[in-house]
Amino acid sequence: MQTLRDALSSDRDRAVFDDLVAGRPTVWVPDRGTQNPDTAFTRLVDDAEARFRWFAPLIEELFPDTRELGGIIESPLTKVSTLSDTLSHEFGRPVPRNLWVKRDDALAVSGSVKSRGGIHEVLETALTVAADLGVDLSPGPTAFLEESVREKMVTRRIVVGSTGNLGMSIGLMGAVLGFSVTVHMSHDAKQWKKDKLRNSGVEVVEHDTDFTEAVRAGRRAADADPRAHFIDDENSRSLFAGYAVAGRRLAGQLAAASVQVDEDNPLTVYLPCGIGGAPGGITYGLATIFGDNVRCVFVEPVSMPAFLLGRLTGLDDGVSVTDIGRGELTVADGLAVGRPSGFVGATVGSLIACYATVTDDDLMRVLALAHDSAALRLEPSACAGLLAAGCAGEDRGTHIAWLTGGSLMPDEEYAALLTAGRRLLTTQARN
Ligand SMILES: Cc1ncc(COP(=O)(O)O)c(C=O)c1O
Repeated sequence: MQTLRDALSSDRDRAVFDDLVAGRPTVWVPDRGTQNPDTAFTRLVDDAEARFRWFAPLIEELFPDTRELGGIIESPLTKVSTLSDTLSHEFGRPVPRNLWVKRDDALAVSGSVKSRGGIHEVLETALTVAADLGVDLSPGPTAFLEESVREKMVTRRIVVGSTGNLGMSIGLMGAVLGFSVTVHMSHDAKQWKKDKLRNSGVEVVEHDTDFTEAVRAGRRAADADPRAHFIDDENSRSLFAGYAVAGRRLAGQLAAASVQVDEDNPLTVYLPCGIGGAPGGITYGLATIFGDNVRCVFVEPVSMPAFLLGRLTGLDDGVSVTDIGRGELTVADGLAVGRPSGFVGATVGSLIACYATVTDDDLMRVLALAHDSAALRLEPSACAGLLAAGCAGEDRGTHIAWLTGGSLMPDEEYAALLTAGRRLLTTQARN
């Protein structure tokens, strides 16, 4: 641990490192040059957008809540100035008033930010498999609903390792397309997510290990099965391209809401981060449009600051939170990743403006505040962006907290979280 610290080049970076080791909330603003997203991925994102469009009639048919958008899986963007006042009052610091939320908590199909990436890779895999099996797709995507096609698809397997939400998006989409799907779940995964998958015909393998180990087990199982495709949360370009589509679409939503983004009116986007894929893809999509005028902030729990640690030390996936004595379980199960994606660090690391870490108790407080003052039903991971709003000290322009999951939570599960969050609010008020 001392070697990691000694290798850092400034007192400021060493102070952030000490915060990470101590499990104290911290903010790190790295030195940043001009924004130059690697254009090698632009084509992949174009292809992902086109693939989503081609499959839209099928998605519309299978998931009625996508009908309003013609089978496109997208979530609204909403302004929440009163929530900004509430957060500011509760945490005793300024929170930008021009605060918006991107409602992936309510995203169709699997109710989280992981949907676009996971679903995109399932759709791409379905096309490859269909070509391999000689399936005639000239009637369009609804060919996948024909019994004769499903009988062929079921012979192929999709395997993934997940803390929960990626598995949900891949399991639910894979199963409706006829694939056999196996999801390897880490010890962080919530029981209701496993139950929902099993009820949808997905095989769930439970591991009592962390996310990195669950992914490793999934990769091993897929390697041993010639009919399996492994969806690799640590390295997948297809997942990344699917997430990046959201960044592009957000630009369209801002334009539709007449929100100006330029040098004097920068856009700051707060993104809950686990392995880095979803926030990384979104950052890439936004940077290709807004360049220097967008600032993306990655937010992680104090027990799992994997992406921040990887970037701070320059080691990316060469370092794990366990190397600095952290890695405890967190209420933010979706962000419970100890070793970040090396691919994402290398691809978008230089585009990230700021990093923040947050405590579990504060996530729970925000969960309750978001419910009571803005009628938002969020899972703890999804509260991280709101908690970081304003942390980079920028008050100008537009601020968007990406709400990353929540709508599929069972009522009793959510009620227990809400009670715990409210209790923390009143405890703090009394102290
Ligand atoms: C609710 C939620 N938010 C954010 C994330 C972060 O995504 P990533 O792990 O790709 O960084 C996840 C990941 O599962 C999630 O479930």
